[in-house]
Amino acid sequence: MTLLNFSQPMIGEDAIAAMVETMRSGWIASGPRVLAFEQALSASFGDRPTRSLTSATGAMELALLACGIGPGDEVITSTQSFFSTMNMIVKVGARPIFVDCDLITRAIDLAQVEASITTRTRAIVPTHFPGALGDMDALYSLARRYGLRVIEDAALVQGSEWQGRPVGSFGDIATFSFHPNKNMTTIEGGAIVVPDEKTARRVEILRFHGIQRNRDDTRDVALVGGKYNMSDVSAAIGLAQLARLPEFLAHRRKLADRYFEVFPKIDDAVLPPRGLAGQTWNMFCVLLPYERMGTTRQAFRAALLGRGIATGLSYEASHLTTIGKLLGYHSGQFPNAEQIGAHTVSLPLHCGMDVGDVDRVCAEIATLI
Ligand SMILES: Cc1ncc(COP(=O)(O)O)c(C=O)c1O
Repeated sequence: MTLLNFSQPMIGEDAIAAMVETMRSGWIASGPRVLAFEQALSASFGDRPTRSLTSATGAMELALLACGIGPGDEVITSTQSFFSTMNMIVKVGARPIFVDCDLITRAIDLAQVEASITTRTRAIVPTHFPGALGDMDALYSLARRYGLRVIEDAALVQGSEWQGRPVGSFGDIATFSFHPNKNMTTIEGGAIVVPDEKTARRVEILRFHGIQRNRDDTRDVALVGGKYNMSDVSAAIGLAQLARLPEFLAHRRKLADRYFEVFPKIDDAVLPPRGLAGQTWNMFCVLLPYERMGTTRQAFRAALLGRGIATGLSYEASHLTTIGKLLGYHSGQFPNAEQIGAHTVSLPLHCGMDVGDVDRVCAEIATLI
């Protein structure tokens, strides 16, 4: 029995050839391919300043630092996100202020965002989920009204559009991931899109040790930086992957459409939002009523695994992690995120699958309800 992964990259011969060529070129760390990749990415984000990094986690950290966010500041964010969001806010010394999300779209709850704004609030960090973006107009008008920065965690939604415009091509700051589970990959990698070249320059300094050149070509460090620069090997893979992104997104959409067609009818199941224009499908997450089905999520996932189908968990509620609890949060505060955290399962969805695999997953689920 071959295992159907819940996620896997689609690495073509084009990416492999580009990688080998780079390896042979004599320049494998950051160099010409990184510049070319950044230009191509920038073009895909409406020519906005874009810099590549080693991960979306690093991109979030540098975004917060580039906004000057640190100790004493508050950042409002959805508790439904990957842990990196919470971690990076805490790491720069700020305090994450969690709010809930919509049960179906998982978009950050803007009424709760507004109610959480204090004199210490500096930024809103929404996380976008596959199948729907939140109301970007309402988000940005709220941010403008209160003079807040917005850092969009767009790790999962490269290629998604809001009213015909790709995420990253509008707004304030957006961060992207090229981890192998994402819509395209550079093995590990990420990118940040910022509003102006001055901020992009700050990101460049922060991503490479804080180094700036003096007039006499000696070096100085005036900002504490880190080491987040992408390699040319990754950038070469990224260039090949970016060229195929539309094809990958179309295939993912076909698989998601098939899930909607053949997913077994289960009362109380919560499926992702269906049929919104311009959306992408990095994951297909469903919430199932395990108790009523006479099982637990763990047993359900184990049963599927026993039939050769791997699933994922995206995501536990951040405020219920040990860090979240140390920050003073407790269960019962954010019911939608808590329900998602307790019930979500990510079903297989990647470009190595075809619709027959979706049919198989759904047929096996039908035998377990
Ligand atoms: C929503 C979200 N944000 C950020 C990240 C972090 O991405 P990376 O692994 O590139 O740091 C992930 C990774 O899964 C994610 O799902």
